[in-house]
Amino acid sequence: MTKKYLVNQLSDLALADGLARVAAIFPGKVAFSSSMGQEDQLIADVIYRKKIPIRVFTLDTGRLFNETYELIERTHARYKQKVEVFFPDASDVEDYIVNKGVNGFYESVENRKTCCNIRKVKPLARALKNMQVWITGLRSDQSANRKEMELIEVDEQFHLFKYNPLIHWSYQQIVDYLHEWNVPYNPLHDNGFISIGCQPCTRAISNGEDHRAGRWWWEVSKKECGLHNSNN
Ligand code: ADX
Ligand code: SF4
Repeated sequence: MTKKYLVNQLSDLALADGLARVAAIFPGKVAFSSSMGQEDQLIADVIYRKKIPIRVFTLDTGRLFNETYELIERTHARYKQKVEVFFPDASDVEDYIVNKGVNGFYESVENRKTCCNIRKVKPLARALKNMQVWITGLRSDQSANRKEMELIEVDEQFHLFKYNPLIHWSYQQIVDYLHEWNVPYNPLHDNGFISIGCQPCTRAISNGEDHRAGRWWWEVSKKECGLHNSNN
């Protein structure tokens, strides 16, 4: 199977058709990672409503907003389908807290990346084990460094295909869909939180700011946590 083949198969399909097609090409080997953000709630809505055989999982870092935890419950109540939850390794977190401090991520980019590695990247690797396709809610206009991302990528970090079905959707299209289909979403989105990650590392943004400006706002880094590193 090549990237070119998948691009040919999926490029011109509407979202639901694309998801169904990829599930048919790789039976039992497709997983969708949901942060419970707006884009991800849209994809989950399609998977759940149309009963597309794709695994849906979330990475519970242990530091999410309470609104996000409540959204997991509301989503479950709505669709009657459970999201798989992957939690960090307990001893990794214990070591981090002892050595770097409970909020050690504010002290250096290195500390921050170590925390993201423990709480997000390692659990993600576990969630994607034995999978051949990883679906995400990435969009190219979320930030400057996401511009180059494509519909289909070969992910060198996790050794699988990455399928970003919303890559060319605009923010307005996402919002319109959620309203049209009455999809449950995080109430923080209505209070200036566009991109939502862990509570200590996310703030609201002001009008005109980059949508990801509120993530790790104290850093001038590329504002990525290590999940989305290889974009080829
Ligand atoms: S992040 O990598 O910097 O956190 P962002 O919040 O924009 O990225 O989410 C981009 C995509 O990464 C989401 O659509 C989702 O597929 C995946 N993702 C991010 N955070 C999580 C999470 N906590 N659990 C599962 N998937 C996530
Ligand atoms: Fe840790 Fe913050 Fe990364 Fe969450 S976003 S894993 S709290 S550094």
